[in-house]
Amino acid sequence: MPKKSQAAAASGTRAALRTAPKTALKAPAARDFQAQVFAQYPLEVASAEGVWLTNTRGERVLDLYGGHAVAALGYAHPGWTAALAAQAQACQFQSNAVAMQVRAKAARRLVRFSKLPFGSVFFVNSGAEANENALKVALRITGRAQVAALEGGFHGRTAAAGAVTWGAQAKWYGFPRTPFDVSFIPRGASGAIAEHVTTETAAVIVEPVQGLAGAVPLGAAFLAALRARCDEVGALLIFDEVQCGMGRSGEPFAANLYGVRPDMLTTAKSLGNGFPVAALMMSPLVAASLKTESLGTTFGGGPMACAAVNAVLAALREQRLLERVRRIGGYIRRTCVLGPVRAVQGEGLLLGLRTSRPAQQIQAELLECGILTGTSSDSHVLRLLPPYILEEQHVDLLRDALRDLDQ
Ligand SMILES: Cc1ncc(COP(=O)(O)O)c(C=O)c1O
Repeated sequence: MPKKSQAAAASGTRAALRTAPKTALKAPAARDFQAQVFAQYPLEVASAEGVWLTNTRGERVLDLYGGHAVAALGYAHPGWTAALAAQAQACQFQSNAVAMQVRAKAARRLVRFSKLPFGSVFFVNSGAEANENALKVALRITGRAQVAALEGGFHGRTAAAGAVTWGAQAKWYGFPRTPFDVSFIPRGASGAIAEHVTTETAAVIVEPVQGLAGAVPLGAAFLAALRARCDEVGALLIFDEVQCGMGRSGEPFAANLYGVRPDMLTTAKSLGNGFPVAALMMSPLVAASLKTESLGTTFGGGPMACAAVNAVLAALREQRLLERVRRIGGYIRRTCVLGPVRAVQGEGLLLGLRTSRPAQQIQAELLECGILTGTSSDSHVLRLLPPYILEEQHVDLLRDALRDLDQ
């Protein structure tokens, strides 16, 4: 660029910055070059094994948060690690344009694991992308332009997933308009469903156990009422089991736990135990509506991701981890209502500890005791999303730490 126009461009940029709203830009912290968009715990992890993280000072921290519900098998799991290493050596990547047994096996095994009559699986990379595709399919099949979602629900940060996320527009949505009209059903209000789900509604998207909201189960009766209304008006029911799925509720999916069958189900997080992978599972009827190029992805269904899925499914079965989720979840409920904890809500190992004081305070105090937990969008709910390999002795450490905290 000639010098003069460079100067003009620079002064244009300066002018734009001067006229930008004061809140639009935050001066980047000098710390490093990472986007300063995350609040971080005062913890720097160097390595991890089992349910333990080791920080850069060599101190161990009990992980009851699992990296936002991802590390279902814990860390350095031998089967998972070996499967990824073997796949990396065999062939690290081919897209869906090329058939691979590892992908076919992952799809087949995932449907079998679900114990639900799904007709096909579409692998993608993140929970938001799975939801984006589910919504696209529902809008296309029905030819309608409205979606109903739930008060308190979280579905991801892309255009469609963010549109159905409760509170996103006020906080971070960032797009000038949503790609379709959205109606939010008050949580648990069966009587309000008919008003929000009509013959104009393409789909209802719902987390059967709301994660970010603080491990809030919506319950069998409410979910069955959603199913019935969808059938009545010809809308599709989408279960977002990105967080509560893959055994975290103690059953393969919360759909099994509550006995309600969705038309589509999305899952991610525990699905890859840390290798990025998500899945959209579809009923045979929905699957039959798809044609070549209806959906697409470069990385989705890559062999590394599918090797991770196969390793997770094998470990869940061989180590009988769903039983463990139920047992340890029950143990937490029985033993951890003490100190500042007033009650426990949620399912399996997606649990919310209702606290007498702000959960953030308790989270910080527990971290000082070497225990990592999460918060939620409810200021008085501390969230636990531990690896499924957790044992009673680890819960005892949490119990003892809670007992010593101020009520
Ligand atoms: C229920 C639910 N849906 C969707 C998402 C979005 O998933 P991702 O961050 O992988 O896009 C999340 C992430 O926390 C989630 O909890």
